[in-house]
Amino acid sequence: MKVLDSKIMQGYMRMANDGWLQGWHERNGGNLTYRMRPEEVEEVRDDLHFDGEWKDIGTSVPGLAGEFFIATGSGKYFRNVESQPEDSCCICEIDGSGEKYRVVWGLVNGGRPTSEFPSHLMNHEVKKAATGGRHRVIYHCHPANTIALTFVLPLTDEAFTRELWEMATECPVVFPSGVGVVPWMVPGGRAIAVATSELMKQYDVAIWAHHGMFCSGEDFDLTFGLMHTVEKSAEILVKVISMTGGAKRQTITPDDFRALAKDFRVELPEKFLYEKE
Ligand code: 13P
Ligand code: ZN
Repeated sequence: MKVLDSKIMQGYMRMANDGWLQGWHERNGGNLTYRMRPEEVEEVRDDLHFDGEWKDIGTSVPGLAGEFFIATGSGKYFRNVESQPEDSCCICEIDGSGEKYRVVWGLVNGGRPTSEFPSHLMNHEVKKAATGGRHRVIYHCHPANTIALTFVLPLTDEAFTRELWEMATECPVVFPSGVGVVPWMVPGGRAIAVATSELMKQYDVAIWAHHGMFCSGEDFDLTFGLMHTVEKSAEILVKVISMTGGAKRQTITPDDFRALAKDFRVELPEKFLYEKE
């Protein structure tokens, strides 16, 4: 089967376009990777070429040896993923050591996978282990409201998680483990990849100060839905702060969250249910 005819590539392109339609991908902003199932690789194997050069990933991901990933290309626009997938995306194979990759499909006009490939792969490695292989999607975008909050809230997991949870009752159910925050760092390298993947051990969401957000999930719907929920919550918080300077007349209290956790059978870490002055 042709890669472009496969269900998984169709789903990948749809998600990329959904992100574009949300306004989360100005220019080449953002990147999306998917860890393929063995049967999804087999289905399209005849459409892959294995003569590409092995290149350094820039970090080591032995837990992903031999895996195949669909990825957006560096400098490529989400806007073009649906109309020019073979130019905008690629499939990459990871070598047996987890130190090198090669392009086996796509990027027909040259280029390389996203500059955030080290962060994506280190997140994938952590999430593959933490979820017994269930998580397959890592998604990075530049959503305006979440980014705006990184100029206003303290850059702590506690402050971001609690404020985002308070903005919509469904939030603690959608991301019960909370969100992690990475202080401003140079993107694209190993250091920010290490910091992000460390947070991904406990969270499915990592916010990069003054830059954007990473989400991890099982499939395209869940991962996109997670991003959408966090950003919607951030939008409400931006409106509240804009209207009142941040003072809330009423909100969801720590005991309300505890009651919610009980009925919805989620565990909410007590570190996020602190008393505010
Ligand atoms: P790429 O075009 O290399 O994917 O970079 C976009 C981006 O968002 C960097 O953080
Ligand atoms: Zn980015």
